[in-house]
Amino acid sequence: MMTQERYAKIAGWGKYIPEKILTNHDLEQMVDTSDEWITTRTGIKERRIRTENDTNSSMAVAASLPALEMAGLKATDLDLIIVATSSPDYLLPPVSSQVQDMLGAKCGAFQLTAGCSGWVYALATATQFIKSGAHNNILVVGSEIISFALDYTDRGTCVLFGDAAAAVVLTPSDEPTGVLAFELGSDGSGAEALQVLGGGSSNPLNQAVLDKRENFIRMDGKAVFKFATRVVASSLKRVIDQAGLLPDDIDLFIPHQANARIVEAGARLMRQPAEKFYMNIHKYGNTSTASVPLAMVEAIEEGRLKEGDKVAMIAFGAGLTWATVVVQMGVGAVSPAHELFSGARMSYMAKRARNRVVDTVQMAMVPLYTRLNRSRNNKKKDE
Ligand SMILES: CC(C)(COP(=O)(O)OP(=O)(O)OC[C@H]1O[C@@H](n2cnc3c(N)ncnc32)[C@H](O)[C@@H]1OP(=O)(O)O)[C@@H](O)C(=O)NCCC(=O)NCCS
Repeated sequence: MMTQERYAKIAGWGKYIPEKILTNHDLEQMVDTSDEWITTRTGIKERRIRTENDTNSSMAVAASLPALEMAGLKATDLDLIIVATSSPDYLLPPVSSQVQDMLGAKCGAFQLTAGCSGWVYALATATQFIKSGAHNNILVVGSEIISFALDYTDRGTCVLFGDAAAAVVLTPSDEPTGVLAFELGSDGSGAEALQVLGGGSSNPLNQAVLDKRENFIRMDGKAVFKFATRVVASSLKRVIDQAGLLPDDIDLFIPHQANARIVEAGARLMRQPAEKFYMNIHKYGNTSTASVPLAMVEAIEEGRLKEGDKVAMIAFGAGLTWATVVVQMGVGAVSPAHELFSGARMSYMAKRARNRVVDTVQMAMVPLYTRLNRSRNNKKKDE
C-alpha cells in the first residue's frame, strides 16, 4: 500500500524591523568611511539597530505573532519552535524557550546556530519533522541583534550588518509544497574568515578579551567574498537540479543579503537576469540569519513572490556554512522531471544536459579569466 507523502506548507509569515535607522551618513561620523564607498562596494544605504526596548526574544515574538495569525493558528497549536540566531538574549537559557514562554506555546523549542545560514538550516530541519509525521505545526524564526557583536571602530565590519527578525509557520499538506529540495553545507576549514574569538568556553569573557576587542566580529572580507561567490551558484544549481527543475523554472531567487556584488555575481554565474535575484540590502544591510526570511516576507509583500511560484533561497556565513532550499509557494505544477516519457520530460532532459555542458565550460574558464584579469591589473600598476 502506498502511503500519502506529506509536505510542509509555508502557511504564515511575519517580520519585525527595529525603528532605529543607522544611515551611511551616520557611519561617516563614526568611522573613516563614506556613503559612496559603502554604496558602491556593498549596495547598503542604511540598516536598522535595535532600540533599548528590543531584545532578541521580543523581536522573535513580534515576527511570530503575524505568522501565526496568517496560518490561522494559536500558539498552543504549535508542536515545535526553532529559533535560529547567533545573538540570543543570554548564553542560557536558549532564546527558543523564552520565545515559547512569551508566546504561551506548550511545545518543544530549540535554538539553532549556523551563522547567517541558521534560518535556512532551520526551515529544512522543520520540514523533516513534518514530512516524517512527527509534528504538524512548526514555527521557524530567524532573529538577530548582530549589532551587539559589532566593533564600531572597525570600518571593515560595522558598516555591513543590521538587526531584524522574521518568522514562518509550517503546516502539513498532501500537495507538493514548501521545501522541495535542500542542501546544508559546512566547511570548518574556513572558520577563521568570520569569527568572534572571545566569550565562549575556550576564551571566556574577561578584561583581557575586552581589551583585545575579541568580543566583536572579526572578518576577512575578501575570503568570505570568494567563498560566497563560489558557493552561491554551485549550491543553487545542485539544489534546483535535485528538485527536478531548471534555473529558468525558478520564479525568484532570494539570496542572503550580504553584499549586492555577491548577488550580482551569483546571477551572472546562474545565467539568470539580475532582476530575478531579490534584494532589500539597501534598507537593512546584512541581518545575519534574519536576512533570507526577511527578504522572503518583503518579496511577498511587494508582489514579487506569489502563490504557485517556485523560489530558490540560499544563505551563507560563519562556519563557514551555507544552506539552500527550493520552495514551492502554495501549490504549483509538478516538474516534468518527475513525469514518465512525456515531451516535457524530454525537453527538460535536453535543457539540463545543455546546461551541464555550459557549466563545465564556464567553470573551466574561471581560472583563465582570473589569470587574465590579474595580469591586466599588474600591467596597469606597472604603467
Ligand atoms: C567587506 C567587503 C565589503 C570589502 O570590500 P572589498 O572590495 O573586498 O574591499 P577591500 O577589503 O579590498 O578593501 C579595499 C579598501 O577599502 C578599505 N575599506 C574597507 N572598509 C571600508 C569602509 N567601510 N569604508 C571605506 N574604506 C573601507 C580597505 O581598508 C581597503 O583599503 P586599502 O586598499 O587602503 O587597504 C567585501 O569584501 C565583502 O562584502 N565581503 C563579504 C563579507 C560578507 O559577506 N560577510 C558576511 C557573511 S555572512
